Amino acid sequence: MPLTQLIYISTATADLEEGPLEAILEASVRHNRPQNVTGMLLYADGCFMQVLEGEPEAVEEAMARIRKDGRHRDILVLQSRAIDERSFSDWAMGFRRLNAQDKATPNYVPFFAYGHSAAKSADEADLARSLLRQFAETNR
Ligand SMILES: Cc1cc2nc3c(=O)[nH]c(=O)nc-3n(C[C@H](O)[C@H](O)[C@H](O)COP(=O)(O)O)c2cc1C
Repeated sequence: MPLTQLIYISTATADLEEGPLEAILEASVRHNRPQNVTGMLLYADGCFMQVLEGEPEAVEEAMARIRKDGRHRDILVLQSRAIDERSFSDWAMGFRRLNAQDKATPNYVPFFAYGHSAAKSADEADLARSLLRQFAETNR
């Protein structure tokens, strides 16, 4: 069965506190789990980065819901590609709100320091994936 891995970045329409972030995560897990969609969501200073993995239709359906969501805007898909196996299989949706220490992580700056300003091209997909992987490792 072919799988799709999709990575996007977006901008929150308001700076979100714990409650609204938990609500996003709750809806994500509730929809993703039965569809066998897995992934990781990062949030820092009004910026989201998310990776979604699963059967192509399931990822497309999740993206259709995500695109309609008024809690974020300027959704930029950095990459959508076929994969043989998942790299983010641990969670229906893993989540990490990045903190001050995380700012020292390589590749943090182009994505999160200036509101995604330096990450306007799909060339950044490899950097985004490695950033997501690093935070997935420390989230276990
Ligand atoms: C940054 C962000 C990431 C989201 N990720 C997912 C996701 O992975 N899967 C999903 O089904 N919904 C996700 N959502 C939520 C959907 O946009 C939508 O609100 C939700 O699916 C609707 O759920 P409901 O059944 O409570 O109406 C996300 C929303 C935001 C803002």
